[in-house]
Amino acid sequence: MTETTTERAIRVGLAGLGRFGKLHAAALGAMPGARLAAICDPNPDALATVGDRYDVPGRFASFDAMLGAGGLDAVFIVTPEPLHAGQARQAIAHGLPVFLEKPLAFSAAEGAEIVAAAELAGVPLQLGFVLRFDTQHAIVRDEIAAGRLGPLVSLRVKRNCSRAWFPDYGDRVHPVYETSIHDIDLLLWYVGAPCVRVQAVERRVSGLRYPDGCWALLEFANGAVAMLETSWFVPDGAPANVLTPDWRGTIDAELEVVGQRGSARIRLLDGGVALWRPDYTAVPEIGLWPEAHGQIGGALRAEDEHFLACVRNGQSSTIASAADALEGLRIAEAIVEAATSGQPVDLAPPAA
Ligand SMILES: NC(=O)c1ccc[n+]([C@@H]2O[C@H](COP(=O)([O-])OP(=O)(O)OC[C@H]3O[C@@H](n4cnc5c(N)ncnc54)[C@H](O)[C@@H]3O)[C@@H](O)[C@H]2O)c1
Repeated sequence: MTETTTERAIRVGLAGLGRFGKLHAAALGAMPGARLAAICDPNPDALATVGDRYDVPGRFASFDAMLGAGGLDAVFIVTPEPLHAGQARQAIAHGLPVFLEKPLAFSAAEGAEIVAAAELAGVPLQLGFVLRFDTQHAIVRDEIAAGRLGPLVSLRVKRNCSRAWFPDYGDRVHPVYETSIHDIDLLLWYVGAPCVRVQAVERRVSGLRYPDGCWALLEFANGAVAMLETSWFVPDGAPANVLTPDWRGTIDAELEVVGQRGSARIRLLDGGVALWRPDYTAVPEIGLWPEAHGQIGGALRAEDEHFLACVRNGQSSTIASAADALEGLRIAEAIVEAATSGQPVDLAPPAA
């Protein structure tokens, strides 16, 4: 973010200090032009650890208390997924710009209400679609936009995660809203046409509330076809590419885009660094939230900086648009419906 020394730091409140909230805290706690002014989490240990590390003056056990105390210019919501919609509404009602981790909501109708509320209040609302800020994914997008791949024919997206993480997510969020929502967003960004038809299958293996695998076939209005896969069965022995102090395991994500003239692919496990540790092998992911010299960099830092620039300018994000987030929810909803019913779902064109 460019700024002059006379500009006041943006006072940020951060809700949720779990695996991912701690990463946002690390990015925001060291960001020029930002001040981590308040944090909230019902877990007192997390409040003390993060609060002391980044010298945060406001520490609250609840979101209500944090908003009620005032003195904030923006909030980051990094709480469990079922809380997102309600907390986003509350923050917008306080006139605060909102950075909201995915998903926006669990239904397109609820998502539309929140986007409309943000527009009415005139506050920026940005979703945590961190892959749009990742260099590799942005290069593929530029390649497509420049026409070098030609018209897109086929896309394949996979996001499989460590089995050990599933107990934490399997009772609180359908995998389509947790993992595939990133890939749905990438598909919208790359294909540039609405999805018109969805077929899907899901499997429940672990006996938790939500399925631990879901596969979908998506047809787009311009003829492109996408295959989407997510499951939570990566074993503990797989090379670890997520290596934060509180969170270790593997995101096995791949993407392939085939156009009439060229193709592009990304494999998240193809990192440049390999660490053979005594007890496990690691291939640290270096694009998304790498830590070096005690600072978080990469796409996560870039998305946080971008949001704060939007707050400063009073504008909505042009990179991670709320309209695409809504369209992604419509597709996610259709995937769950198709997987549950076993029938294809036709999607009407999005509202103009
Ligand atoms: N973009 C990505 O790649 C990515 C990766 C991981 C997680 N996430 C997202 O980040 C969010 C958090 O996920 P996580 O893995 O950190 O979960 P987590 O379970 O590790 O952490 C959630 C934290 O929220 C706290 N919390 C619970 N209720 C709260 C409340 N009412 N107010 C404030 N805090 C509350 C919990 O005590 C916990 O510390 C989710 O939306 C998830 O989808 C995004």
